[in-house]
Amino acid sequence: MNTFINTHKERFLEELFELLRIPSISADPQYKDAVINTAQAVADSLKKVGAENVEVCSTAGYPIVYAEKIIDPKKPTVLVYGHYDVQPPDPLDLWESKPFDPVIKNGKIFARGACDDKGQMFMHIKAFETMMQTNSLPCNVKFMIEGEEEVGSTNLGIFVKQHKAKLKADVILISDTGIIANEIPSITVGLRGLSYIEVEVTGPNRDLHSGLYGGAVANPINILCDMIAKLKDSNNHISIPGFYDDVEELSDLIRKEMAKAPFSLEAYKEALNIADVHGEKGYSTIERTSIRPTLDVNGIWGGYTGEGAKTVIPSKAFAKISMRLVPFQRSEKITQLFTDYFTKIAPPSVRVKVTPHHGGEPVVTPSTSISYLAAAKAMETTFGKKPIPVRSGGSIPIVAMFKSELELDSVLMGFGLDSDAIHSPNESYGVFNFYKGIETIPYFYHNFTELYNK
Ligand code: BES
Ligand code: MN
Ligand code: MN
Repeated sequence: MNTFINTHKERFLEELFELLRIPSISADPQYKDAVINTAQAVADSLKKVGAENVEVCSTAGYPIVYAEKIIDPKKPTVLVYGHYDVQPPDPLDLWESKPFDPVIKNGKIFARGACDDKGQMFMHIKAFETMMQTNSLPCNVKFMIEGEEEVGSTNLGIFVKQHKAKLKADVILISDTGIIANEIPSITVGLRGLSYIEVEVTGPNRDLHSGLYGGAVANPINILCDMIAKLKDSNNHISIPGFYDDVEELSDLIRKEMAKAPFSLEAYKEALNIADVHGEKGYSTIERTSIRPTLDVNGIWGGYTGEGAKTVIPSKAFAKISMRLVPFQRSEKITQLFTDYFTKIAPPSVRVKVTPHHGGEPVVTPSTSISYLAAAKAMETTFGKKPIPVRSGGSIPIVAMFKSELELDSVLMGFGLDSDAIHSPNESYGVFNFYKGIETIPYFYHNFTELYNK
């Protein structure tokens, strides 16, 4: 198997580059054709390596690529999930090379989607090719690769509900997360949920001269800032009434166990060039980014932001706000609590409009299941070290639905690093990590099939 990978290394990378060159930005309608072309390219790459019943399934949004290889209905089935869409690359001027013109520098592939998730998703297609070519595929496999993960997976949610029989499997395997370091492998066992909201604050019915009206009329930007400030107290605790009601408080024992995972606060601060961290009082940095919920403004705008100075009180101000959720918070409930509170704290001098965007539920996956053990053993084989289970702060909304709709646990066996800068300029993915993934995945199949039969 490793000989096959070694012989075809260069080609694997070249094929990934082809995929990275297509700007599949799901958030921006201008890239519609590119997103659709990427779905087709993924389908072709599956067909080429021997997957069967390859389909580009249309949805109300972007297509879902489905493919399978059923070798024996009595054998277990691994369902691979990934996404071929990417985040917008902006701000463009901060990229050192073009986002859709992949290059290798210092052992890393630089491109939008290199790690999240084209690079990681493609490892699965190449691992499948390797198993096919070396006659070592030990079980059935189904692929489901979507194009709307970065915009909330709404249509995939519908697809999953509609195709339960087609998606019947024994485990879901996903590489769309990371490891602690190349020398410290880990497996993600938790993802946060998400509630994403846009707010609009309206003051006067038109932009006003800030001299003639300033001081007498509510400035929606000032008001919005006041309102945002009221969302947290001085301990960085979220002030929305009821926000923490369903949050699971973990025992001291579990927290002590978590604190054993290697983490250097100094290295963390240095990597981000910050003098200090900032967050909810009473919790460590690791806890703040995994077991605790958060609230963050993701964007804020209004008024004059062009060259020079324009003296104006704007009519409107806007912000996009996200809340990351933990078990057992529910995104719909949190969105409602936010809406009620935000509306309540608005002074009578303005009107507010709250528009919910996508949401997603938090998940925790078991670290004692045979699927976890299969992944842990696979990583131990290829990294030479037992992986550590860790809960991540990110979200993959469909994972909770895999559990609720298909009753399947997911194994989050990702290979990215924090330094890969996903969603940021200069996203990268280690060449080491790309090959390590291709090498590790077949061991998962093998271990899972073996444990399943026991
Ligand atoms: N792959 C990421 C999520 C991720 C990355 C989880 C690293 C854990 C470790 C995924 O593509 C993503 O970016 N998800 C979005 C949610 C979505 C609804 C926009 C997120 O977490 O912001
Ligand atoms: Mn992703
Ligand atoms: Mn992402």
